[in-house]
Amino acid sequence: MNYQIKSYEQYQKDYAASVADPQGFWASVAEQFVWRKKWDTVLQWDFLKPDVQWFINGKLNITENCLDRHLAALGDRPAIIWEPNGTDEPHRVLTYAQLHDYVCRFAAVLRNSGVKKGDRICIYMGMVPELPVAMLACARIGAIHSVIFGGFSAQSIADRLQDAGSEFVITCDGAYRGPKDIPLKNTIDDALAACPAVKRVIVYQRTHCPVSMIKGRDVWWHEELQAVSESNLPAEEMDAEDPLFILYTSGSTGKPKGVVHSTAGYMVYATYSFVNVFQVQPGDIHFCTADIGWITGHTYIVYGVLCAGGTSLMYEGIPTYPDAGRLWDIVDKHQATILYTAPTALRSLMAHGLQPLAGKSLSSLRVLGTVGEPINEEAWHWYDDHIGKNRCPIVDTWWQTETGGIMLSNIAGITPAKPGYATLPLPGIQPVLVDEQGTLIYGNDVSGNLCIRFPWPSIVRTTYGDHERCRTNYFAAYEGLYFTGDGCYRDENGMYRITGRVDDVLNVSGHRIGTAEVENAINMHTGVLESAVVGYLHDLKGQGIYAYIIMQSMPDDAAHTQADILQTITRVIGAIARPDKVQFVHGLPKTRSGKIMRRILRKIAEGETDNLGDTSTLLDPGVVEEIMQGKV
Ligand code: PRX
Repeated sequence: MNYQIKSYEQYQKDYAASVADPQGFWASVAEQFVWRKKWDTVLQWDFLKPDVQWFINGKLNITENCLDRHLAALGDRPAIIWEPNGTDEPHRVLTYAQLHDYVCRFAAVLRNSGVKKGDRICIYMGMVPELPVAMLACARIGAIHSVIFGGFSAQSIADRLQDAGSEFVITCDGAYRGPKDIPLKNTIDDALAACPAVKRVIVYQRTHCPVSMIKGRDVWWHEELQAVSESNLPAEEMDAEDPLFILYTSGSTGKPKGVVHSTAGYMVYATYSFVNVFQVQPGDIHFCTADIGWITGHTYIVYGVLCAGGTSLMYEGIPTYPDAGRLWDIVDKHQATILYTAPTALRSLMAHGLQPLAGKSLSSLRVLGTVGEPINEEAWHWYDDHIGKNRCPIVDTWWQTETGGIMLSNIAGITPAKPGYATLPLPGIQPVLVDEQGTLIYGNDVSGNLCIRFPWPSIVRTTYGDHERCRTNYFAAYEGLYFTGDGCYRDENGMYRITGRVDDVLNVSGHRIGTAEVENAINMHTGVLESAVVGYLHDLKGQGIYAYIIMQSMPDDAAHTQADILQTITRVIGAIARPDKVQFVHGLPKTRSGKIMRRILRKIAEGETDNLGDTSTLLDPGVVEEIMQGKV
């Protein structure tokens, strides 16, 4: 790949070129992919609509870039190394040739099931190699996948299935995660009670738990596969702007929205960012610990890694199973060279002390990365000292579901790192800070809301079925800018530090959760009148969830009512959205116009009660005193 940045000078040169001539810059990167037909125009854009199109009229299939083009030179190279949850089960390796064959055959299964180009396919699976196979098989025939994280509830799945109008589901009987067997198919069955449009469910057998298979609708993955023999199913020709996938993510209002990514722009930027940020070398084994149900897994376990001809090491289980040394065992066993994980995982491993590191070599590691939330300095130094042994650069990568790939990050070993800082933009990324009125904030040593003023190839194209929502969410706050929802500080040297969300989105253990979603779930519980949810600083999770709840009458047994409400949240959203703290209150601090003053609730949850700010506009200042008294 001759777009790999090799020096700090080159970074500066490439960055300048990407701003001076974005079209020329990205055309020269895109040239290095496989196209059925090249584009006519590189870019057309209007952030007001928004309408962004890259590589217009280009024709391609992303799986030809992920698979076919590597067959000649890298056919025998591992594309995916899979480490199972249990230590007594053998790992699996799929070479590029084997993965290509598997994807083609499963694509034929999909086609035989009636899947057509443009259909939306819901994938709800554990972390098994068949999950990337299912995604790539969809892409092979032009179907749009919508992967749903295995921790979401039946209700959440049903919402997403209905929103995307999916008629096909790919799932597993169950999933192993640490000591637990999670009954995925049962959850799908519950979801499908509300989704009569679903006509086919393909079930991969992983845990052999008992499952209900409905005649005419549900079929086994392995049986369907036996019926096909296509080892070289031709790839569907896709337009550059055809949607590749939908991924649902939380916003500050309403239900999660389906972020839509396009085929070519996403492919180009996923690969470009992977190759550059991690400074990928031939033979690298890239270990990303994210779940494929999130954007990190889509881009840096599947598409970016495979397009670059890399080896993706994927792990089925959790970092602490069977003990807190498991990740390090996996690194040593498979000689991982790049480790990409979340600060929350590092903090939880740090809490186990250094004993789990005893006897682990970690000498194969070359580059470390973090993603998903700000990393505190203590965790950064622990990562640097004990995992990287002070010889591996740490890349702190800031990006979002909507950006498709890494936006701000140091480039491993090439641009400087600074603990707690995502540092500098990648070429092609033009960050700006604005104040509340949208005025650009120039200069250094300044803070503001982070926006991006020019499109990059993998920018969100729309929110599925509701383009207006895409506009209001990202492009309406500040005219002519993409608004990230994050607050940010630019230091005296122009380096960026993300300070956290400035909207009503929480980041709990690196997972994005909307306060409105949690409130809606709480409000569904019998006896609840109203609720307000805020985030607070949490040692392990980064942010914890604090819920203030007004009941019709104060519960006699608060612990019991609390447990019931948590159960409702688990059913409506999933366990990841369960509040860490619940406080039953008589009232919430509201302005005279009825707006809840979350700022005050956040301060109380953080224990910062001596500086609540101006409370004079409150309808009833007395409620603040009561809430402070009852803080949990
Ligand atoms: O607040 C930022 C935080 O995660 C949000 C995006 O979440 P999601 O779409 O789920 O994608 C996560 C993985 C890319 C951002 O708006 N975030 C992500 N990376 C960082 C971060 N905050 C600080 N530092 C990061 N490196």
